Amino acid sequence: MSTRETWTTRAGFIFAAVGSAVGLGNIWSFPFQTASNGGAAFLVVYLLAVFLIGFPTMLAEFVIGRRSEQNAISAFERLGFSNWTFTGALGVFAAFVTLAFYSVVGGWVLRYIVGSLTGAYFGDTAGYFAAISAGPGAIVTHAAFMAITIGIVAFGVADGIERATKFMIPAIIVLLIGLAGWGATLSGAGAGYSYYLSPDVDVILSNFGSIVPSAMGQAFFTLSLGFGVMIAYASYLGSDDSLPGDSAIIVVLNTVVALLAGFAVFPVLFSTLEDPTTTSGGMGTAFTALAGAFGQLPAGQVLGFVFFVVLLFAALSSSISLLEAPTSYVVDTYDYDRWKIAVGVGVVTFVVGVPSTFGITWLAFYNDLVFNVLLPVAVFLIAVFVGWVADAEAFDELGRGSVVGDVPGTAPLTTIWLWWVRVVVPIVVLYTLYLGVTSLYTGLTTGGYF
Ligand code: PHE
Repeated sequence: MSTRETWTTRAGFIFAAVGSAVGLGNIWSFPFQTASNGGAAFLVVYLLAVFLIGFPTMLAEFVIGRRSEQNAISAFERLGFSNWTFTGALGVFAAFVTLAFYSVVGGWVLRYIVGSLTGAYFGDTAGYFAAISAGPGAIVTHAAFMAITIGIVAFGVADGIERATKFMIPAIIVLLIGLAGWGATLSGAGAGYSYYLSPDVDVILSNFGSIVPSAMGQAFFTLSLGFGVMIAYASYLGSDDSLPGDSAIIVVLNTVVALLAGFAVFPVLFSTLEDPTTTSGGMGTAFTALAGAFGQLPAGQVLGFVFFVVLLFAALSSSISLLEAPTSYVVDTYDYDRWKIAVGVGVVTFVVGVPSTFGITWLAFYNDLVFNVLLPVAVFLIAVFVGWVADAEAFDELGRGSVVGDVPGTAPLTTIWLWWVRVVVPIVVLYTLYLGVTSLYTGLTTGGYF
């Protein structure tokens, strides 16, 4: 078998991991979830979820990946715990299901880029969305988005993923700053910022049961946790990188992008909608609400174009990581050409995604299955594995090339981390899982999906 690939530079790894993290989750769902869940109230819980639960979990995945130098499935075997392989398999399965519907949404984005240029969606935003989000047209754009994703992954870790994300991430940040700056000039900016940034404790307390699982699911999803993606990405790392240092950068950059997206979207919503606080986090709302807003604003065509290009880059830099998770498993296990594997896996995923072009309820069902069930289960298992099963290994690995392990006096941080992963993360995640399963069950039995 040929030698295993690695990232060419530390920055290359960071760009790729930030690329995986920054996605539709940050720019499409974060602002709309925040809008529909009480604004700043949601934001506070989300930030806590990201930093207190997401960050330590990302470290746990990095430990598994770099220690084993294997994809998420083989990693457990390589570490000597073959009966834990199912944990990686579950994550890779979640990645596969996610990519299937992610690519459908990616296809909508492609369509909206064209629609911005021609102004096609300005007249009847709801009608346009309905027309392009389902049916044969949606299958074509889904195929186009998947083809681009396959193309990048086929080039490999360094030449494909690293190169593409090094270009896309800076572009996303610069363009979003531009959009947020433009948002500041709109009439609704003040009202938007205040809803976005001044938390109301009563809102948090009275909606605890719904805010917590949404914020937690959003935190895992946005950080690409539980999917085996971060395990696979860390497996291409050299031993001199600092895992805590790298994850801190990744988590912070990912949060900055989500916050920036909020700064771009809230002024737009508050300048153009009657009551933006009732904007549901539903699948199509982001598209219809924003498309409608762009239509009412000066230079809406240009702004719409820029916004959807940002969304496309974000979606692609994530979809390639979703495809890489299963691809790396096949590459590590069998001696086929990477490009053949990428095409094979991509085509199967495309087929699985086709039902979600028939109707938005399928898409919502896939989405909730991943958010409410697969993600929390996978994260729970990873925390238990790193904390209780592989703990000596984890301890060692965290210190390698690490600012934490090498600087005298910082070793207690490693201990705190280990106990956090052992106790706090599993308990919080189990609670989230309970709330998430309940809501999925209610949705299924009350005909919320089909
Ligand atoms: N983090 C990506 C987003 O926010 C989604 C994603 C999840 C990508 C898991 C890869 C793995 O859109």
